[in-house]
Amino acid sequence: MGEQLGGLKRTHMCGELGVKDVGKSVVVMGWVNSRRDHGGLVFIDLRDRTGIVQIVFSEQVSKEAFEKVQSVRSEYVLAVEGEVVKRLPENVNPKILTGEIEIYAKNLKILSKSETPPFPIEDRSNVSEAVRLKYRYLDLRRPSMQKNLITRFKLTQAVREFLNDNGFIEIETPMLIKSTPEGARDYLVPSRIYPGKFYALPQSPQIFKQLLMIAGFDRYYQIARCLRDEDLRADRQPEFTQIDIEMSFVEVEDVLDINEKMIKHVFKKVLDIDLDIPFRRLTYQEAMERFGTDKPDLRFGMELKDLSDILRESEFNVFKNALKNGGSIRGINVKGAASMTRKQLDELVEFAKNFGAKGLLWMQVLEGEVKSPATKFLTEGELNKILERLEAEVGDLLLIVADKDEVVFDTLGHLRVEMAKRFNLIDESKYEFVWVVDFPLLEYDEEEKRYVAKHHPFTSPKDEDIDLLEKEPLKVRAKAYDIVLNGTEIGGGSIRIHDTELQKRMFKVLGFSEEEAWKKFGFLMEAFKYGAPPHGGIAYGLDRLAMIMTGSDTIRDVIAFPKTQNAVCLMSDAPSEVSEKQLKELHIKIDL
Ligand code: AMO
Ligand code: AMP
Repeated sequence: MGEQLGGLKRTHMCGELGVKDVGKSVVVMGWVNSRRDHGGLVFIDLRDRTGIVQIVFSEQVSKEAFEKVQSVRSEYVLAVEGEVVKRLPENVNPKILTGEIEIYAKNLKILSKSETPPFPIEDRSNVSEAVRLKYRYLDLRRPSMQKNLITRFKLTQAVREFLNDNGFIEIETPMLIKSTPEGARDYLVPSRIYPGKFYALPQSPQIFKQLLMIAGFDRYYQIARCLRDEDLRADRQPEFTQIDIEMSFVEVEDVLDINEKMIKHVFKKVLDIDLDIPFRRLTYQEAMERFGTDKPDLRFGMELKDLSDILRESEFNVFKNALKNGGSIRGINVKGAASMTRKQLDELVEFAKNFGAKGLLWMQVLEGEVKSPATKFLTEGELNKILERLEAEVGDLLLIVADKDEVVFDTLGHLRVEMAKRFNLIDESKYEFVWVVDFPLLEYDEEEKRYVAKHHPFTSPKDEDIDLLEKEPLKVRAKAYDIVLNGTEIGGGSIRIHDTELQKRMFKVLGFSEEEAWKKFGFLMEAFKYGAPPHGGIAYGLDRLAMIMTGSDTIRDVIAFPKTQNAVCLMSDAPSEVSEKQLKELHIKIDL
């Protein structure tokens, strides 16, 4: 036996030992979770990936091991040989899985020493995320983080299992690609061999998976790393992972159908939860009107109601102006929230202004009266109609916004979620999936003064809307869909344009000349000349799905080595400066 492991060979994992092993001589290896000294007895909780087991050192059992254990501290790495013994009933620890037994140590080898770690390795430590990220390898020792990454692994495994069984082929696509102008900002990699030229890192395998359809692979998938240089949030990282899928000879329904089956399989395998399929569907328009967002959280109600029709004749300036400018007046009813204080209501008004609303009208529905800054501007008839439309009862708080639709939806959509959180209206045990379909194909970019693709330029318009492409571009709906879980967009995709003529029209509407389009996407357009099957697909944010399935608050908690919100790695200090020599080779001069 080699000396590396102190001449011992591991026989069991710590967390797997139990009453069934009583009387056995075992060898376990792991980290010292805690050490308690009771004079004649020393207790060590030894931890590995599977859990914790208690080890007892006593002079009676082994004088040598007992003496050696005196120097052992937290996070030392040990190999321990000993006998599994059943604990006395009064010593049973129901909090750990191995709580009915302990190991009497006969032989101890210290495999590694540890300095005192910067924070204790336990789940309930209130150490800052910055410190956790700097010492990520220690943070990852915590049982909750181990559990997160193992759940993520099971999720990936279940996805692969399902797709492999359903005729999908996993194919890798390149990381060094041509920069194409769509979506977010590219990360660029300078070419040493071709001074002044750059590769881009892929924002997604989009173009390549379409080329694989043209190549005849029929059903493709990839657990793909994607890189986007964009502003970060709790559910966004500069590098993230997609479950990327593409299929040939399909329509929207085929894609949704197989994806529902995949998600059902995954939830059963990973969480043992039986989901009902098909999932609900909402058109984009419906989602906006009822929930104020294209990623509605359906774990609670509090739907938006349009009040415009009952306030057409209102003399209240706020309402009048909104309607005159083509906007609308809408509201939500927050059940039981009438008791909010004036200060809290003022804060809500400020919250609403973050989303561009000029104000927020609140109405406290009290016994025998309605308290609101607007009562003096509204007729009794108008007030009653508002109460009726919002199904107001005593104790409710009504929140109303009048503005352009865009602002009304955004403000009320955010207020709806904010109020649900504050008043605990969200059932955290629920998984509410919904497909949002029929997205607009295009939106108008005020900065660039042109239409841009809402999804990407290869997304197919709905057949019945193709004629509107040049006439009324904003009215054209796309064969595009998003899958939303508990208010988070976990995936999105579309049926693609496979017809060269239609693709040319699309580029034209997007304001690319034929020459420009050719320069940017020429290789794809060239490929379309040689027989493209009708095709479509989807990509999931694997990190987001893992975040929700583990009940985490940020995707950083399901990524082994994430970046901060400021896109830095606190552990390795990336990004960092590079040497003069490296820059020279790349013909790069830094100009700050
Ligand atoms: P899309 O850009 O919508 O589609 O991306 C698909 C899914 O990826 C996740 N996602 C992210 N997750 C973490 N950090 C990010 N920065 C980030 N950006 C996106 C989201 C999103 O729903 N090629 C198309 C898919 C297709 O049409 O098939 C695409 O990439 O959960
Ligand atoms: P004002 O006439 O501006 O004093 O507004 C009267 C009330 O209407 C205040 O409580 C404002 O917060 C509210 N308010 C102002 N603008 C809007 C708006 N666009 N939508 C809803 N309420 C508004």
